[in-house]
Amino acid sequence: MRPLIVAQITDCHLQNNPADDYRGRDVEQHLNAVIEDLRCQTPAADLVLWTGDLVHHGAASGYNRLRDRLTALPLQSYWLPGNHDAADLMLALGGPLNQRTIVDQHWVILLLDSTSQPDGMGGGYLASQELNFLAQQLQTYRDYHCLIVLHHNPLPVGSAWQDRIMLGNAAAFWQLLAQYPQVKGVLNGHVHQAVEQQHQGINVFMTPATSVQFKAGCQQMTLEDASALALPAYRVLQLYPDGQIRSVIKRVAC
Ligand SMILES: [Fe+2]
Repeated sequence: MRPLIVAQITDCHLQNNPADDYRGRDVEQHLNAVIEDLRCQTPAADLVLWTGDLVHHGAASGYNRLRDRLTALPLQSYWLPGNHDAADLMLALGGPLNQRTIVDQHWVILLLDSTSQPDGMGGGYLASQELNFLAQQLQTYRDYHCLIVLHHNPLPVGSAWQDRIMLGNAAAFWQLLAQYPQVKGVLNGHVHQAVEQQHQGINVFMTPATSVQFKAGCQQMTLEDASALALPAYRVLQLYPDGQIRSVIKRVAC
């Protein structure tokens, strides 16, 4: 049976002025290359999840440019905020992009805002209303397989500087998920590198950025120096009717 095909694009870090670079990279060009690759996918994705840090300075100019690209795509997009985003502005500008519960025949996808209690360093936190929303949705959709999507990583990745700014209340998040065995996957951005782990029997997928990648296993922020891993990237997931998830990272030359 055909799986639901979900693309994840994350950490675009668009600048206010599209001519400005981010850490030496032309992030507009990177994003265009990723979108072009996505458009050429066979079979085509059914939907796209944009998982935060979509712009770098939380300003409308970047969101407007991004929204123009999304509305030109032949498939539906949904977005959620990261620590660089302005969640209120996204709500105001995004319209249907802000839908937080996506229901398919066998799967439900839940989008969370992990940008509560900003620490000024990039760390994340799920507000109590987010945890309540998650619990209520999981209760409602007990008979569906579930993929949970948020910006911040709920598990450490082994880089000291990044593990200090992961999801701050990850313990509460995992404690909640332990009550709902229909959760099959968790999907996040924020780490700018590819990571796949299992926790409590749940697959956790972390995805490289379209903008720049961070090198794994570092004490301090270090840009990826392996040319193949430094390319802009995104993830494609196949969600099967039996609850299995298959996933690949797509790295895009540009
Ligand atoms: Fe980011």
